[in-house]
Amino acid sequence: ETLLFTKVDKSTESLPISYEDWEKKARDMVPAGPFDYTAGGSVEEQTLASNRAAFSRWAIVPRMLRDVTHRSMAITLFNQQLKTPVMLAPVGMQKISHPEGELATARAAAAAGVPLVVSTVSSHSMEQIAEVMGDAPRWYQLYWSTDREVSASMVRRAEAAGYSAIVLTVDTIMLGWKRRDFKNGYSPLREGYGMANYISDPVFCSRLAEVTPENAVEEILRTIYTPALNWNDIAYLREHTKLPILVKGILHPDDAKLALEHGVDGIIVSNHGGRQVDGAISSLDALPAIAEVVKGQIPLLLDSGVRTGPDVVKALALGANAVLIGRPFVYGLAVAGEQGVASVIDTLLNELDVTMALSGSTSIADLNRSILTRL
Ligand code: FNR
Repeated sequence: ETLLFTKVDKSTESLPISYEDWEKKARDMVPAGPFDYTAGGSVEEQTLASNRAAFSRWAIVPRMLRDVTHRSMAITLFNQQLKTPVMLAPVGMQKISHPEGELATARAAAAAGVPLVVSTVSSHSMEQIAEVMGDAPRWYQLYWSTDREVSASMVRRAEAAGYSAIVLTVDTIMLGWKRRDFKNGYSPLREGYGMANYISDPVFCSRLAEVTPENAVEEILRTIYTPALNWNDIAYLREHTKLPILVKGILHPDDAKLALEHGVDGIIVSNHGGRQVDGAISSLDALPAIAEVVKGQIPLLLDSGVRTGPDVVKALALGANAVLIGRPFVYGLAVAGEQGVASVIDTLLNELDVTMALSGSTSIADLNRSILTRL
């Protein structure tokens, strides 16, 4: 099956076509507080920059004369057939970027068959988001609560609402040091944008004498950061769900080893888009050593800095089974809602298809180290 995604002629579409143009347009349309919250990284934003620089240190060495008439980008993850190796990363509080928030994103993801990972701090509840997605693939991202029965409850709800994997984010046991947000005096969590999954949760609500927005925000801020999180907590999560469990935010190969030892089902190599440890290794630079440890035993995903089709090819050739994008789709959402997210996805998948074909690959399985060189 040859995949050509473009439904609109990009030369006549009035929407941006490059990440840089989407970002520029989003900056014009979104107030400084929420824009900087989305765009920014931690401390000096070195890792934010490294995530991009890492991709330019690898070059594709294309293969020719390979008959690429019939192509497919399909992959299988956790026994689920997916049309493409691209997913939408968990991004909380999407209403700060667009009034329709996650609902617009979810509709675009479902229409494209691109899996969506829904954040614990989404601005619509996981059930509301599931409702607009039909049977389309979706995973749930968990921020571990210091009140672990709240975590268990959310995981239960995710299972009931048709989410097919749990992504435990392990790099956000406290908030990264984000200078732009200090400068703007901006905290979307404090403003109540991330409450939907909490105030719809029976266990969370049972902890409050009275459920008011103010009480809920205070309780969320009290329980969302979990510096005590450790490998033993995986066992508790395992007891509470039959779904595959992925850990998101792994950068060290020894942690990948521990993830395997603790029976984790998947790993997402990520530095949270440069928003947590500044000075941290870029995701792409971290990937090869982790791929060496994982050796294909469990799915290995990557995010942070993926912007173009060639970027996806490089990450997959270095050992990732799939990639996730964060800011690119958020800018699409900010600029044009559902249509913007759809356009960002469509452009990326077309770039991926063209890049694969012109490099001599007809399937994702074709992509390996032999078509890359380190500059
Ligand atoms: C995030 N990210 C994130 N991750 C997570 O596990 N839960 C969350 O709620 C959020 N929220 C969030 C908000 C915003 C505004 C951004 C930009 C990012 C991190 C996200 O899942 C992903 O790791 C990065 O966005 C990937 O990097 P790029 O593609 O943005 O460079």
